[in-house]
Parts: sequence; structure tokens; C-alpha cells
Amino acid sequence: MNNEPYSTRRSALLEQIGDGVAIIPTAPERLRNRDAYYPYRFDSYFWYLSGFPEPEAVIVLIGGHEPESILFCREKNAEREVWDGFRHGPEAACDAFGFDRAYPFSAFEEKLPELIAKRGSLWHALGHDAAWDAKIVSALNTVRAQSRAGKRAPGAMHDLHTPLDRMRLRKDEHEMSIMRRAAAIASSAHARTMRACRPGMAEYELEAELAHEFRQRGATGHAYSPIVAGGSNACVLHYVENDKPLAENALVLIDAGCEVQGYASDITRSFPINGRFSAVQRDVYAIVLAAQAAAIGAIKPGAPFIAYHDAALRVLVQGMADLKLLAGSVDGLIESEAYKPFYMHRTGHWLGLDVHDAGEYKSGDDWVRLEPGMALTIEPGLYIRAGADVPEHLHGIGIRIEDDAFVSTEGCEVYTTAPKTIAEIEDVMRRD
Ligand code: GLY
Ligand code: MN
Ligand code: MN
Repeated sequence: MNNEPYSTRRSALLEQIGDGVAIIPTAPERLRNRDAYYPYRFDSYFWYLSGFPEPEAVIVLIGGHEPESILFCREKNAEREVWDGFRHGPEAACDAFGFDRAYPFSAFEEKLPELIAKRGSLWHALGHDAAWDAKIVSALNTVRAQSRAGKRAPGAMHDLHTPLDRMRLRKDEHEMSIMRRAAAIASSAHARTMRACRPGMAEYELEAELAHEFRQRGATGHAYSPIVAGGSNACVLHYVENDKPLAENALVLIDAGCEVQGYASDITRSFPINGRFSAVQRDVYAIVLAAQAAAIGAIKPGAPFIAYHDAALRVLVQGMADLKLLAGSVDGLIESEAYKPFYMHRTGHWLGLDVHDAGEYKSGDDWVRLEPGMALTIEPGLYIRAGADVPEHLHGIGIRIEDDAFVSTEGCEVYTTAPKTIAEIEDVMRRD
């Protein structure tokens, strides 16, 4: 375990909390039904600062002249380890994960008052988990009740996510190398679905190809519920049933990414189920691909976040006019938002430990400006539902093309590599 990236991040956070104390719990285990649990997923902030995978753990960071990182985690337990598997225990975890001190999780509530007493401020993600909020309020009240003994509770409360969101927005080298791995696995999973696809298969059979590639190559699994949407199902943005047959002459849209060491990839490809784009599918695809190219061209340090959406939107709206979905000038159609029935989402979002990652998009009224190391998706689409004013040959075509990129010093580094151009897709799907 290389704990250096995590302790570096803890140090960076410690510098920002002054003489405060920060409390960062991990996520609870969650029941799915009766006594069956969901697969455990740690809290992203906790993971960012520790790399510690077990539930029932919390980090306490003490700022000031002698900063300290403290971990509370489950104790070794021979019997529970027979049933549930290995636990580090505080002693081993302290060394392996680079903390200064570690204690049993069961001691947290008792120790918390002394850890927060005399600190200038308390940093916590208030309002995200009522049980943790209650523990912290209880510790504050315990300290306040001891004021005559010279104890003093922190005078200020701060939202811990504010500094952490800022930090998470710019990825460090360690994060970037993990994200490249998540992207490489997801890219080959998308290529695998193209090779496996046959008319008459069910959507879930392609979902199974994704899962196979993810697990076979060591990813944890899906980073989010995958979308495998044949034909007009592609026009339902969050279609996740994935249970319909794939029709011979339709397209299929697949939005799927994997998770590697907590980090998500997020890729969408749209391709012809029979391996060859029809003329009309080709026309619509070319518009979305051109919109993505325009967006990629607009990503560079200093550009406002919204610039790449605006660039993609212009190309999409011109395309809508060319396809006779809309009539009027591009500027007028953008101004009136007449394009919204066919393109109703933003062209991308921050990407990282969460698929829609932490980080502000606006600072006050201004869009955040791009900086090297930021990670984002680029995902224009066109969704043409059947409708009275829609030319019939376009009915039910839904196309999105989504890649993942880092803002680089030069501009933009797209680091997902699934087949994307019409020629690349038809080539990988060739059946001879
Ligand atoms: N897969 C979620 C998204 O594309 O935003
Ligand atoms: Mn996606
Ligand atoms: Mn996305």
C-alpha cells in the first residue's frame, strides 16, 4: 500500500483548517433487503484522504503547530474475520495507511470531546448523515458542559466539503493514473460489446459483456447503473431496464463505465446493431461526432466550464436545422431553447471518485475556469423521439458519444479510446 498520495492530501487539508479539527467518517454498510447488504462502497471523501477500505471508520485531523492524523477503525476480531473477512485493526492500519495514531472505532464517541476541546473550529460535512451530526453535536455539548473545568468548544463550524471539493477538482498524478486504467478497461469493454452484438440478442446480453470485461480485468464493477438501450430506448436518458431485444436495423446506445480503486470511467457509444450504419443513422451520428470534436476543441486552461457545452450546442443545433427538425437561425434557436426536445442535458460534468464528481461549476455568477488536471466528460447527443413535426425516417434515433478527458496545459487530453468514428466502429464489428 503506497499511502503517500493519501497522507499528502491530508497534509494539504490540514493546512487549510488552521487550528481546527476535521471529522471525516466513511459510509455505513447498507441493507438491500432483509439481511442482505449492498456491496460495500466507502465514502468518496474518506477514501480520498485515506485509501482505507473498511466500514466503521472515521478520520480525525487535528490542525495547528503539531498537526495530527488519527484513524478510528474496527478492532481485530477472530470470530468476525472468519465470517466477514480480514480487518486491519487500529495498530496495523495506523502503520499501513500512514496515520499518527489509531483507535478502535468503538472508542470514537468517548474520545471525541477531548479531540475537539480547545480547537478553534470544527470542520464536518454537516447535514449529510443525521447520525454523524448527532454524534458531533453530542460531543460539542459534552465539552460545553465542562466549561467551568476550563474546556472550550470550537467557536466556529465549517463545511468540510468546501476545501475538499476544491482539492478533488484537480486530480493529482496518482488519481490520473488510476483514472487512465478505469478508462482503458471501459474502452475495451465497449469494443467488446461491438464485437459481440448480433441482431436478436437482448440488451442484457451486451450488459453481460461489459460486466465480464470489467471484472475479468480487475475493475470493481460498474461505476453506475449501465444503460444498454436499443432503438428508441436510447431516447430515454436514464433507461436502465436493459431487457428488450435488439432489432436488426436499429442502433444501440451503451453508457457504461467501471470503477477502479474508487475512480469512475464514463463512456457512451452508439452503434448499429447489424454492424453497418444506414444512411440516416450515418447523418445523425456525424452531427454528434462533429459536436464532440467542437467541444474537445473548446477545452483548454482558462476557458469557462460552459464553453465546451456552448461549442457542442452550436454544432448540434446546426445539425437539427440540417435534418429539418427545426427551422430558423442557429442563434435564434439557441436563444429560444427550441433545441431542448432533442438535446436536454449539459455536454459534460466533472469526473473522479464519483461519476458526477465533487466540485463547483460556478463561483458566484461566473463559470469555473478550466485548469490543468481537471477531469471531465464530453458527451453531446441527439435524441429524436417520434412526434408530429419530426420527419418519420428520424423517429426513435438516439445517439450520444461520451469520452473522458483531462484538461492539460496544452488543452485537452481525451484518454478514453473505444472505437468512435463510423469507420472504426464498422471495422471492429465486421463479421467476415
Ligand atoms: N453515466 C452518467 C452520465 O453520463 O452522466
Ligand atoms: Mn455516461
Ligand atoms: Mn457522463
